[in-house]
Amino acid sequence: QRLVSRELSDYRLIVVSNRQPYVFKMVDGVPRGEMPPGGLTAAIDPLMRACGGTWIAQSNGEDDLAAMDDSGRIRVPTDAPAYSMRLLNLSDEENTGFYYGFANEGLWPLCHIAYTEPVFDAEHYGFYQSVNRRFADLVLDEINDEPAIVLIQDYHLALLPRYIREVSPDTIIGQFWHIPWPNPDILRICPWQDEILDGMLGNDLLGFHLSGDCQNFISCVDANLDAQVDPEYGLIDYRDETTLVRPFPISIDFDNLDTEARSEEVEDEMARLSRELGLNRGRILGLGIDRQDYTKGIPHRLRAVERLFEKWPQYRGRLVFLQAGATSRTSINSYMQLTIDIESAVNRINERFGHDGWQPVLYWPTSLPSTTFSALRRLASFCAESSLHDGMNLVAKEYVASRVDDDGVLILSAFAGAAQELTGSLIINPYATEQFAEAIHQALTMSDAERRIRMRQMRNTVRENNIYKWAGRIMMNLMQASTPDHSRLTT
Ligand code: G6P
Repeated sequence: QRLVSRELSDYRLIVVSNRQPYVFKMVDGVPRGEMPPGGLTAAIDPLMRACGGTWIAQSNGEDDLAAMDDSGRIRVPTDAPAYSMRLLNLSDEENTGFYYGFANEGLWPLCHIAYTEPVFDAEHYGFYQSVNRRFADLVLDEINDEPAIVLIQDYHLALLPRYIREVSPDTIIGQFWHIPWPNPDILRICPWQDEILDGMLGNDLLGFHLSGDCQNFISCVDANLDAQVDPEYGLIDYRDETTLVRPFPISIDFDNLDTEARSEEVEDEMARLSRELGLNRGRILGLGIDRQDYTKGIPHRLRAVERLFEKWPQYRGRLVFLQAGATSRTSINSYMQLTIDIESAVNRINERFGHDGWQPVLYWPTSLPSTTFSALRRLASFCAESSLHDGMNLVAKEYVASRVDDDGVLILSAFAGAAQELTGSLIINPYATEQFAEAIHQALTMSDAERRIRMRQMRNTVRENNIYKWAGRIMMNLMQASTPDHSRLTT
């Protein structure tokens, strides 16, 4: 049995993810680290600032090299250094096989029910293995035979826990899987399913968003490996080790977004956007924000908006629907096709209904400053998140956190993890265009009182279940999972 004292401070903390927490660019000849948008960094950075340690990631910053010290480390954040970043440089070939290939053309569509066929290419998988090994080498170098906790993020690194465990059996290892997990019938499509499961069982603690994902994972292990499973307690015994499998629904920094939404910059931005979008002349705004991904149901959302204009002509000339959010993974065919599909739907709707300077659908496929997103969320009468399948969907939670006026209606797909918590939203099936269009109409005709009751309830939920609570629960469970006595586990 491993001997562990149960103080977090006794361990070196190592976080591993594909994306780096700070991206470096030269500003006035000095390298400056900026935190990229996205929930993952925002969730774990406060933990790293408090505990110190090392964050290992792939290098994607233009000026990472210029920021590195002689030991290959970068101290972050730039203004108040609290922890180190170590970066792995991948060749184009490695990145194509590992990131674009197996992770995003294989595992991503495998784990999301969006009817996009996964591509399983042996060469890609070879790179996935070798890049996971390269991450393991860097982690092991950082562990340096000291007591360490390694916290691994996401589906890019499914083999990493096993590679670390093989060499360093006493290290405490946890992983959070940020996307859904499929059932055994779907996982079977993956030619390397056993190795993936075996890799993930190198963890002491394995976290998913929802208990349904945990149950799916346990069923997959039960169906494929020679393991003892206890679905009720989420325990898997395999190769003389135990993995605890638990749900941790991820969240956002509610207070931060709430404060930003009340700021003067956001008020100014709201005034500017009101003029630009004609909201000061009585127009109303509907909003969709997404990283442009085929799992987000953007064409389905546009179909519902089109149906709304068909069925309720009173919205013609009055409602502006804005689809915003940057493109993503653009060298993959299914993502290129998505852009074509979105553009053609936007053009079709605008040609059908647009008149007299009114453009029904605006499409802004770029990254925008966070103050602009805050202002848009505050201005939008409704926000529609129509994922075909989504681990959580943080955009829905961000809309709620920005509504400091307790107004606005969230329309949310039943197939997003967030629908389990955000019960004040109008829940839709993105494939059911008629029902989706009716939900938009309902949002636009809902009484003030009902909007406020629903929004207040959702704001309380997100304020309470915030990102700090998520990170704290993971760390607590990780410390407990690594102790031999599992009967003392709390939920
Ligand atoms: C999902 C994944 C994250 C990923 C993000 C952005 O949310 O779970 O791990 O970072 O998408 O995708 P990208 O491929 O740009 O990192």
